Amino acid sequence: MKKVLVLTGGGDCPGLNAVIRGICKRARREKDWEVYGSIESFNGVFKEPQEIIKLTRARTAGIHIKGGTILKTTNKSNPIKFPVTQPDGTVKFEDRSDELVEKIKKSGFDAVINIGGDGSQRISKVLADKGISVIGVPKTIDNDLSATDMTFGFQTAVQIATDSFDKLVTTAESHHRVMIMEVMGRDAGWIALHTAIAGGAEVCLIPEIPYHPEKIVKRINLRYKKGKGFVNIVIAEGAKPHGGALVSREGEKGSEHKRLGGVAYQLSALLKEAGCLAEIRETVLGHVQRGGSPTTYDRVLASLFGVKAFELVLEKKFGRMVSFRNNSITSVTLDEAVREYHTINPKGDLVKAAKGLGISFGA
Ligand code: F6P
Repeated sequence: MKKVLVLTGGGDCPGLNAVIRGICKRARREKDWEVYGSIESFNGVFKEPQEIIKLTRARTAGIHIKGGTILKTTNKSNPIKFPVTQPDGTVKFEDRSDELVEKIKKSGFDAVINIGGDGSQRISKVLADKGISVIGVPKTIDNDLSATDMTFGFQTAVQIATDSFDKLVTTAESHHRVMIMEVMGRDAGWIALHTAIAGGAEVCLIPEIPYHPEKIVKRINLRYKKGKGFVNIVIAEGAKPHGGALVSREGEKGSEHKRLGGVAYQLSALLKEAGCLAEIRETVLGHVQRGGSPTTYDRVLASLFGVKAFELVLEKKFGRMVSFRNNSITSVTLDEAVREYHTINPKGDLVKAAKGLGISFGA
């Protein structure tokens, strides 16, 4: 029997289980393949004894509707920068990729399918360069990978954010308040802008367009003068005022990333400073955007990605990442997969259309 190892890395994302099920269902149609899963990304391979499970029908039946990942995940086990706690409590990063390659080969895996975002696909690239037969599957709610038109999880995150936004509109209206809703997305404003368009926000602040608090206050005052008396703002966690810095704090020990979050409170203070007289309330949506069941769209996209990933294994097209482009499921090289970060073009159609709808970017 031939064996393929599947794992999920980085932050979780609705649709991961649908990818896993898609891989398993397609593999079962071949008589000579078995699918295994490494628990908690590559940690399952590193551990002794290894935490690797066989992905049987019983383990994967019906999981496509469940959020999270049955394989668990972590963003603190990058084999290229593996965090090792030193005797004095500090953390040093080590390159354990050679050891990982050795372990994967020794365990007899013919292929590896790595489901993850840009960080994970950089790891895929290193493993591929070191001789492992790897296929990448793109994942992120942030939709910030340039090599695919869409990632699964994004649509679910936008749906959750829009549902929350709708709820904030009714309470903003009742209290004549300014409601600020902060959404995720790191350095890309996709979740924020889609939510602002879907919900009908007056103001949308994204990392790609630094904002001026005075301009937003002007807009707020205009709305109040016209008698509408309430304003709904969507702000991306990576948004910054002109000349300002990112609001972030250090990640946990072993994490390579800073934790974003809190821009809603920064904006609230800046609006007050700039003379906003209306009452302001802030909502930081946080991880609910990543939780729960994937939407229909994401279930479909993730399932198609899973099937395609296994078919790339069958075709021995290694060193590639599954991608959704021009309405078809295709693949790109891992080089292309990690080359560019996908952010909103401030002069592009989406921003233009949003402005056409009357949404202000505070610029
Ligand atoms: O990349 C997905 C994402 O949800 C970002 O939008 C957010 O900034 C980050 O992950 C949060 O990471 P964590 O779950 O480690 O707090």
